Amino acid sequence: MLTRRTLARLAGAAAIALATALPALANPVVIKFSHVVAPDTPKGKGALKFKELAEQYTDGAVSVEVYPNSQLYKDKEELEALQLGAVQMLAPSLAKFGPLGVQQFEIFDLPFLMNGYDDLRKITDGEVGKSLLGMLEDKGIKGLAYWDNGFKVMSANSPIHTPDDFLGLKMRIQSSKILEAQMQALNAVPQVMAFSEVYQALQTGVVDGTENPPSNMFTQKMHEVQKHATLSNHGYLGYAVIVNKNFWEGLDPALREKLDRAMAEATVYANSIAKEENDWAMEQMKAAGRTQFHELSEDERAEWVEALRPVHDQTASRIGPDLIKQAYTVLGIE
Ligand code: LMR
Repeated sequence: MLTRRTLARLAGAAAIALATALPALANPVVIKFSHVVAPDTPKGKGALKFKELAEQYTDGAVSVEVYPNSQLYKDKEELEALQLGAVQMLAPSLAKFGPLGVQQFEIFDLPFLMNGYDDLRKITDGEVGKSLLGMLEDKGIKGLAYWDNGFKVMSANSPIHTPDDFLGLKMRIQSSKILEAQMQALNAVPQVMAFSEVYQALQTGVVDGTENPPSNMFTQKMHEVQKHATLSNHGYLGYAVIVNKNFWEGLDPALREKLDRAMAEATVYANSIAKEENDWAMEQMKAAGRTQFHELSEDERAEWVEALRPVHDQTASRIGPDLIKQAYTVLGIE
């Protein structure tokens, strides 16, 4: 049986534990993590995993508030909000860094550059990926990680099997000059538009089509307003997780170390589910039967490659020929 003295000692210890925990819980460091996609996407789930781990590893000294679906900010606004410190963390698509003045990230948008996730990993985990994140520092931003999404499907309300089928189609793109050049190479009319506006624009005919990994297409219900889609895998869409540099460097180093660990583990998690999430979304869309999905034949694919590869040379000066050469070398492209 516990004596009164032991009980008193235990009560004292509990009070001390509570007192040390309380300041953290009452006044946690808040990280607002804003993003534009649904919670049940690779990025949405990655953000929630980071929240879970960050709060666990810091014993509640950090509170992560995740705002999905453009609830707080749309594409361009969220980058401004990060620089101003209104939010602390984002994971914008790599195609959205141009307006920030770091257009080199648009290398990921080059059509038919990477042939699957293994190629992607050679870029994100290698020198190219590292040097790109380093370019953000001048902008008051720190790049923490790359999170995968997937390879893109082209969709429209008319069949788009060959490059000729794109003639005159209004295609929504993200704010990347490479994607603009890509649509122009197909004789389509590119239109930059925030992600949150795409569904309605497709529904009302403001644009005819767009490109997205299956997970984004499904979770935004775009398949309900697109009659046709081609599994072209012509390009990649993924993310850089970024933080406001002053905020991050101003954190207590011991706390930051715990957050680094949470980020490293959330990254492994997000990147391990990306392919599955996209495969699952594709199955759901096929089962829904609203969109007719077309697989490219070998000849059709060759036509797409022929139409789109010139975009590499056309846009080399924007990205930097040396960076492109570096990427070609690690990817084994002649
Ligand atoms: C888009 O705008 O199409 C994507 O960048 C959205 C996202 O964050 O995946």
